[in-house]
Amino acid sequence: MNVNGRHYRTIWVKKDDESIIRIIDQRRLPHELVIEDLTAVDDVAAAIKDMHVRGAGLIGAAAGYGMYLAALEAEKGNSFDDYLNAAGKKLISTRPTAVNLKWAVNRQLKAIMKGDSPADKVAIALKTANDIADEDADYCRRIGEHGVKIIEGIAAGKNGNPVNILTHCNAGWLAFVDYGSATSPVYAAFDKGINLHVWVDETRPRNQGASLTAWELGQHGVPHTVIPDNAGGHLMQHGLVDMVIVGTDRTTYTGDVANKTGTYLKALAAKDNDIPFYVALPSSTFDWEIRDGRKEIPIEERDPDEVRYIEGICEGEIKRVLLTPKNSNAANYAFDVTPSELVTGLITERGICAANEADILNLYPEHKG
Ligand code: MRU
Repeated sequence: MNVNGRHYRTIWVKKDDESIIRIIDQRRLPHELVIEDLTAVDDVAAAIKDMHVRGAGLIGAAAGYGMYLAALEAEKGNSFDDYLNAAGKKLISTRPTAVNLKWAVNRQLKAIMKGDSPADKVAIALKTANDIADEDADYCRRIGEHGVKIIEGIAAGKNGNPVNILTHCNAGWLAFVDYGSATSPVYAAFDKGINLHVWVDETRPRNQGASLTAWELGQHGVPHTVIPDNAGGHLMQHGLVDMVIVGTDRTTYTGDVANKTGTYLKALAAKDNDIPFYVALPSSTFDWEIRDGRKEIPIEERDPDEVRYIEGICEGEIKRVLLTPKNSNAANYAFDVTPSELVTGLITERGICAANEADILNLYPEHKG
């Protein structure tokens, strides 16, 4: 997608030095566009854990490149496969909820172990990392092609008035390699000239909506309004939301959806107000092993200081200030699970389906049985 008219992906290999992976450091947005170089698997693990990169698709792609950097490191030692296995474990341990991380590491290990020599394995690791990234961008583009039809359908009944779409957190191009999942249909509809407007949940505590979704929609010229997380229910009761589209960090093959904390409450409010609630995801975000999302999806608990403090720009400097009484405890459950029955449909790269086992497996028959 474009930033100040220039095309960017969220992660790429440096042109003149293939041992360097470049990322946009998302901790600095929306105030500064900072490009960071990662040169070791430990850099990638730290970048994922500390959220320089975040979002299900992007941390999967970052893990893919992390395994490539680990392969470069392993080439210099003598226990290549052990080093790679340990690197995979390290990357997977950085964040527990988004399944793309494990998916990308396992895809890399399977591919790399087919190589005949260390040099061959390094070449395979680079190709696989690039494939994961290209596929992520392509799948997100296709999610847009399918999802735009839903927006077109709603627009047809609006007599030229804007279609109001509510989204939570950032499932935009910053959360993937390009296009995004939840935002891809929005960009596709906007580019087709459909009149639309996006309600952007600020998404406490890290404010990915206010900082990232608002920034990327603004860069594309999409009309949007940032709202406090708790305003969605009120807007829905007053006919100001036509549909909800969110992303997901892990969706079970039965249709339960883990996404940024607060998503479940939006789904309940949408149900109460008869508003369609869609979840957009590439197939890399399905968990083909877990049946009951509420019981089985691990929910990341992050540093309570993310709740106690808030960060922003003040007189040109990024500052962090304390919000709560000094000694109050805080809890930081980063995700919640929306049960399948609250989800109107899943928008995938293969098309749109209901959030239930039969329909999901019809779209992905290779996972049957
Ligand atoms: O904690 P984050 O920022 O990595 O969480 C990921 C998210 O932004 C959301 O949960 C998103 O809606 C799904 S990721 C495509």
